[in-house]
Amino acid sequence: MIEAHQLVKTYKNGEINVKALDHVSLSVEKREIVSILGPSGCGKSTLLNCLSAIDNPDEGKIMINNQNILEMNDKKVTKFRAENMGFIFQFYNLIPVLNALENVELALLAQNSKIKDTKTKAENALKKVGLNDRMKHFPHQLSGGERQRVAIARAIVHNPSIIWADEPTGALDTKTGNKIMDLILELNQSESMTFVIVTHDDRIATFSNRILKMDSGRFIKGESQ
Ligand SMILES: Nc1ncnc2c1ncn2[C@@H]1O[C@H](COP(=O)(O)OP(=O)(O)OP(=O)(O)O)[C@@H](O)[C@H]1O
Ligand SMILES: [Mg+2]
Repeated sequence: MIEAHQLVKTYKNGEINVKALDHVSLSVEKREIVSILGPSGCGKSTLLNCLSAIDNPDEGKIMINNQNILEMNDKKVTKFRAENMGFIFQFYNLIPVLNALENVELALLAQNSKIKDTKTKAENALKKVGLNDRMKHFPHQLSGGERQRVAIARAIVHNPSIIWADEPTGALDTKTGNKIMDLILELNQSESMTFVIVTHDDRIATFSNRILKMDSGRFIKGESQ
């Protein structure tokens, strides 16, 4: 489902070059939960951004659902991302002036303004994450765990095949973080969604099918280079 080959990404800041990705290759099967673990600054977010076509690597090849995403033009890649991918972030990235339902609905409308029954679809997504009785709450009226549930509802509402998560439990305490990981597991099973999670939290590993360890822009264990 996801095939990345020899990705290289170097950031240039004046005289200093940082090799954020140093020939990274990986493949992820459909319905896998893969965690990418590694210390701060090792290149995890850079890798996720390249795999999800938010950023471009300098070198390498990325195939997603048998499509070469680096060869798509901007319009096509935006459409491909909107249809096939969902995103979960550490700090939820919810819109503060919209309630939970509106935040989820907006994601559908942003994808395609002609989508019908956005309200019902958004309600269903919020039910799936256990927020039946929080739909009219605004982000500031929700706990951190509940905010992340809204963000997960937003990520799954258009039924994508891949969910990218960058530190999804990073802002939560252990218990709440574990509940979020339980929810991710549940969605992985019930919705057949593939999850790629980057984190520096070892505990998340126990919830994954496979763990890839990264350091200084490379995988150090578990995946061939
Ligand atoms: N836009 C940028 N310009 C310059 N350097 C960058 C940029 N983004 C990231 N870097 C550098 O690239 C390296 C990898 O950064 P990245 O954000 O991918 O790390 P990370 O593993 O996600 O870290 P963290 O766990 O702290 O989120 C770091 O050394 C960082 O300083
Ligand atoms: Mg990061």
